[in-house]
Amino acid sequence: MASAIKSVGIIGAGQMGNGIAHVCAVAGYDVRLHDVSEERIKEALATINGNMARQVSAGSLGDDDKNNAISRISAAPKIEDLASLDLVIEAATEDETVKRKIYANLCPVLNPEAILATNTSSLSITRLASATDRPERFIGIHFMNPVPVMGLVELVRGIATEDLTFEASKAFVASLDKTVTVAEDFPAFIVNRILLPMINEAIYTLYEGVGTVEAIDTSMRLGANHPIGPLQLADFIGLDTCLAIMQVLYDGLADSKYRPCPLLVKYVEAGWLGQKTGRGFYDYRGDEPVPTR
Ligand SMILES: NC(=O)c1ccc[n+]([C@@H]2O[C@H](COP(=O)([O-])OP(=O)(O)OC[C@H]3O[C@@H](n4cnc5c(N)ncnc54)[C@H](O)[C@@H]3O)[C@@H](O)[C@H]2O)c1
Repeated sequence: MASAIKSVGIIGAGQMGNGIAHVCAVAGYDVRLHDVSEERIKEALATINGNMARQVSAGSLGDDDKNNAISRISAAPKIEDLASLDLVIEAATEDETVKRKIYANLCPVLNPEAILATNTSSLSITRLASATDRPERFIGIHFMNPVPVMGLVELVRGIATEDLTFEASKAFVASLDKTVTVAEDFPAFIVNRILLPMINEAIYTLYEGVGTVEAIDTSMRLGANHPIGPLQLADFIGLDTCLAIMQVLYDGLADSKYRPCPLLVKYVEAGWLGQKTGRGFYDYRGDEPVPTR
């Protein structure tokens, strides 16, 4: 059935959507990229072009392969533009209301045989599936950021996901040269169940004045051998996404140990969402990132 997937639609042209489009196009799939904002689609296409050009310079992608991959990606300004595709991956903002609304608009026009997947970092696959017309062909395909670089994809079945959907999704992920792990449908699955509480704790460490941004990140890089510090990682993920995931853990597991740090809430309320808005725990507007605390 995997070979039946030839075309992929992506909803949400943010940092995850552009990365997913990139790897699908390089693997030979026809890709259509949709977003509520046409500007975001244009920016995403430019980002993909730049990222592929870097791969060409690094020798990991041929010039012709890049050109072919780019020619396989097209903008889909209207949700109807995704109607005939074999697989649609929703990678829009981590907000259940937003995702439900997307499914409500998409399902009536989408090929009834198509698989619908979500890239959610934390939300219940079973609950999201119930907002679609095809719970048996709905699945979590959770890519990691940055998608072209990271080797892992978590697959998460909802209660109704059929074996055929799971097997086709698994073969699809393998065709992108990624490794699959299977996670059960619990809040934030495996990676973020472990990673986000650590990031939240780093923010509490900052909030309580135990260390500065620089001290916390340097401590975890050199003291725990993490490739980047937890606050820099939070900025990279997006502080709105980090907060949304902590909220899902807190509500879903009903345990106070997952309480989002008030300082994280404050940064999000300020619109300081990390790299994507130019400011988070670091200020990215100059030549070098500068800690904001
Ligand atoms: N950031 C990460 O590290 C990461 C990693 C894995 C998974 N995810 C998940 O991927 C998804 C997207 O995250 P992101 O980091 O790319 O966010 P982002 O903020 O970079 O992009 C989200 C995009 O969704 C678009 N969008 C919002 N409402 C929409 C709608 N109704 N229709 C179409 N598009 C809409 C926005 O315009 C935006 O371009 C989330 O579910 C997130 O949890 C994120």
